[in-house]
Amino acid sequence: FHVDWDLTTAEKAGFDHFMLKEIYEQPKAYRDTMGSRIDEAGQRIVLSEVKLTPQQIWDIHNIHIVACGTAYHAGLVGKSVIEQLVRIPVETDVASEYRYRSPIITAHTLVIVVSQSGETADTLAALREAKRNGARVIAITNVVGSSVSREADDVITTWAGPEIAVASTKAYTSQLIAFYLLGLHLAQTLGTQDAAAIQETIAALQKLPEQVEQLLGHAEEIKQYAEQIATHDDLFFIGRGADYAVAQEGSLKLKEISYIHSEAYAAGELKHGTLALIEEGIPVIALATQEQLLEKTVSNIKEVKARGAQVFAIAFEGNHEIAKSVDLVFEIPRTLPLLAPALSVVPLQLLAYYASLARGNDVDKPRNLAKSVTVE
Ligand code: G6P
Repeated sequence: FHVDWDLTTAEKAGFDHFMLKEIYEQPKAYRDTMGSRIDEAGQRIVLSEVKLTPQQIWDIHNIHIVACGTAYHAGLVGKSVIEQLVRIPVETDVASEYRYRSPIITAHTLVIVVSQSGETADTLAALREAKRNGARVIAITNVVGSSVSREADDVITTWAGPEIAVASTKAYTSQLIAFYLLGLHLAQTLGTQDAAAIQETIAALQKLPEQVEQLLGHAEEIKQYAEQIATHDDLFFIGRGADYAVAQEGSLKLKEISYIHSEAYAAGELKHGTLALIEEGIPVIALATQEQLLEKTVSNIKEVKARGAQVFAIAFEGNHEIAKSVDLVFEIPRTLPLLAPALSVVPLQLLAYYASLARGNDVDKPRNLAKSVTVE
């Protein structure tokens, strides 16, 4: 009896690639990142690693979120989470731009840097620039003891576990969880959300892991769609609000590993230029979870369909309005609009994975890219 065995195969725990394994580890990553940061009664956030006193939180006038790549996309969701829950103005910047644009940082600015590795050169430089200007810095990172975690004032660790695939999946979604926890922590300190709203959001957060499990059970539908789009050279992602932030992440994921050219567009902005690129048969992926914007998104879907686009939507289950406006819909379980990114991004990760596979690419090690960029 002989078994072919090597360390890498063992580490993949039966999955063909690290990326797929890491996509399936997300329910655990969500649970671990929430961990003891929610009290037993499910009523309050306990973020003891953030040492900011209530007075210091009151003194925050503005927030800058700074990161690169996928972590930047988590920061775009973070902006909408914090602004919605706390009503403090937030700007999200790419670190390589932030450090050279003379950002207006004061002692009343809270800077949040987001980095899976905690070693990205531009993010680290942005952190130092922020501190030099007297800002308080919170790091959201997946690596305990990383440079970013050592230099920040407060550290929120994402407990996603080691991420091996170059394309980030569970680190990104754990960063979203960290933003939800931080947003709720600030909101309960400042009283910008009442206790009932906080409890409702906590209850919805706690349901996310099993909802991710539920939608992973439908991966086959995404695989089939991925095999269709794998033959295309261009496609578009559209969305509004938080859906636009997720569209940007979905587009990046697809580019990174399938090498299919794609663009993410704010759905309402299409008609100002990009609509010229829509032609017969082009795939358009529409994120439509923000139901307060649904009517507007549907009208953008009609604009592209009228020009021959094939539209694939990601929407909450039972959304008949979307189902009848598109060619194909992938349904995700219902949650609060604020939390939708933590579900809607998962089918996009699977889409990138299966499209890359269908094209015969090296999924875990895409050309020209590195897991961690420690040079400028
Ligand atoms: C590289 C990786 C990306 C990652 C980015 C930022 O480009 O390929 O997946 O999002 O760096 O990395 P960080 O470790 O700072 O989150």
